[in-house]
Amino acid sequence: MHHFTSAADVSDLNLLVEKAFAIKQNPFHHKDLGKNKAMCLLFFNPSLRTRLSTQKAALNIGLDTVVMDVGKDAWQLEFEDGMVMNGNKAEHIKEAAAVIAQYYDVIGIRAFAGLENREDDYAEKVMESFKKYAGIPIINLESPTRHPLQSFTDVITIEKFKQTERPKVVLSWAPHPKALPQAVANSFLEWMHLTNYDVVVTHPEGYDLANQFVKDFPVVYDQNEALKEADFVYVKNWSSYQSYGKVLHTDPAWMLTREKMKLTNQAKFMHCLPVRRNVIVADAVIDSEQSIVIPQAANREVAAQVILEEILRN
Ligand code: CP
Repeated sequence: MHHFTSAADVSDLNLLVEKAFAIKQNPFHHKDLGKNKAMCLLFFNPSLRTRLSTQKAALNIGLDTVVMDVGKDAWQLEFEDGMVMNGNKAEHIKEAAAVIAQYYDVIGIRAFAGLENREDDYAEKVMESFKKYAGIPIINLESPTRHPLQSFTDVITIEKFKQTERPKVVLSWAPHPKALPQAVANSFLEWMHLTNYDVVVTHPEGYDLANQFVKDFPVVYDQNEALKEADFVYVKNWSSYQSYGKVLHTDPAWMLTREKMKLTNQAKFMHCLPVRRNVIVADAVIDSEQSIVIPQAANREVAAQVILEEILRN
C-alpha cells in the first residue's frame, strides 16, 4: 500500500481485518517499525477520534507524529494553477506539499467538503493535490467524499460482532439541524461493496447518495421496512447530494428509537461519532446493550495502526 485515500487502495480486505485482530491482541508487536520516521497530520477541520486514534496508533509502532491545525497555524493555501496570488492565500499547494515532504515520511490530511460546489468537492482537490505534489504516502483522515479509516473501522467492528456469515446491515439517514457532508455514508457503502453483507440503504426522498457509491444496493424510502430483521443499524446524517449541501428534512420521525430497534433482529447500533443524542438517536438506544459505538470508536486505533504498518512496510 502506498496511499490510503479510498477503498481502491485495498487489495485484500480480509487480510487487513486479520491484521486488525492480531493488533488488537498485541498492539506493540511492531513497536520499532516506525523508528526514525515521522508523520505529519494536517487538520483543516476539527476532530477528536481521528486525531487521537491516529496519533496513538503511530505511538504503538514508534512513529513520531506532529499535528498541525492548518486553518489556524499555517499560511492559507492556494490550490488553483495559474492564479495571481494577490489575495489572502499566501502559499501555493505546490510548495507547501513539497516542503512538508522534505521533513516527513507520511502525511495525513483531514479536509471536509465545503458543501457549496459539488463538482469541486467531488474532485477531491486537496487530497489529489497533496498526492501530486508531496510524492510521499498520503492518508485520508476524511475528505469531501470519503472517510476510509472510519469505514475500515466499521468493517472490523461488524466482523467482531456479527453472529451470521452474511449479516443484514442497514445504513439509515437520520435528521440533523446542520448540513453535513456525505463522506461517511459514501465511504461506508464503498467499503460494504468489498464485503458479502446484505446491505440496505434507507433515507427520505431527496437524499439519494451518488450512484458511484450506492451501485446495486437496495434503497428503501420507508425506514421501518428497511429496519426489519437488521443485524446492524448504522445511523448517519448527510445533506442532499442532488440539492447539493441542502437540508431538506429535519423530520424527527427518522430518529432511531427503541421502538424502531424492536423491528430489527436485536441489531447492534453503530455510529461514527460525534452524535447528537435525541436528534440522531434516542438515549434509550445509544445507552442500551445493543449500542457498540464505544468498541467501534476503539477500533479506530486498530484500523489506523494496520494502515500505518502497511504503508511503512512498503
Ligand atoms: N468519527 C470521526 O471521524 O470522529 P472525529 O471527527 O472526532 O475525528
